[in-house]
Amino acid sequence: MVDLTMEIQRLKQDRNAVILAHNYQLDEVQRVADYVGDSLYLSKVAANSKQDVIVFCGVRFMAETAKILSPTKTVLLPEKDAGCPLAEMITAEGLRALKSKHPGVPVVCYINSSAEVKAQSDICCTSANAVKIVASLPDHKVIFVPDENLGDYVAKQVPDKELILWKGHCVTHAKVKAEDVKQVRELYKAAKILIHPECNPAVVRLADFVGSTSEIIRYAEESEKTTFVIGTEMGVVCTLRETLPNKEFFLLHPGLVCPNMKKTRLESVYQALRNHQYEIDVEEEHIVLAQRTLQRMLEVV
Ligand code: 13P
Repeated sequence: MVDLTMEIQRLKQDRNAVILAHNYQLDEVQRVADYVGDSLYLSKVAANSKQDVIVFCGVRFMAETAKILSPTKTVLLPEKDAGCPLAEMITAEGLRALKSKHPGVPVVCYINSSAEVKAQSDICCTSANAVKIVASLPDHKVIFVPDENLGDYVAKQVPDKELILWKGHCVTHAKVKAEDVKQVRELYKAAKILIHPECNPAVVRLADFVGSTSEIIRYAEESEKTTFVIGTEMGVVCTLRETLPNKEFFLLHPGLVCPNMKKTRLESVYQALRNHQYEIDVEEEHIVLAQRTLQRMLEVV
């Protein structure tokens, strides 16, 4: 039998590849990765990578972002059907129609969007920097796409701005209801409840802390508290249980498992390196414009 971890290490050297994994990836994938983190961190790593090949263990928009930021590199997405329903909730055509209703209003697009939507936007953001990005714009009115929940969270943090939101949402985070938070509050009275801003506003309002996946991890690491309820995807709970064995972590809702993020297995990473699959291709005209949108974000944070 092939030792997949050893083979991955060997092929990685052979191909001059780097492996990036999002915080939602399975443990077995995170263990072979060179870099693990949230969308913002991984886009910075991709932008600065020196290797010829980037194996992106995540979902399609993340691998596309790596390609846009490092267009001369080969970017591989180990599972070709690992998509993001939220990113698919807006099309470039839909965004064009919204822009035509609000001429001159700048567009902030969440990184969970296609290359074409990024190309149509002025500046990108992730959940870690969305508030900073919107606040950095001189305009009063801002179009924010496609995550309505994150947009609502940002609007509350930057009350002097008027945000025009798109009705998109993450189907996994949307499963959490305010009632779930109230129940865990009763159940684990001493626990801190840490929530991702992709959850709906009624849920976010009840959180002790709101942040990106890496910000949630950092909060748990730095906190003196020992019990936490995690309101984002299961992968974050797995990481925390492994890295902080003296603290206790509970998942806020059993449905917080992203089926697309869980498609990538250790075997997929091995096959990706072995067979050079699945190569991400972004149209030249979208690369140029989307790169500008992403670079503007990286200049702010
Ligand atoms: P982070 O940027 O917090 O890692 O989140 C990415 C994502 O897709 C959340 O569902």
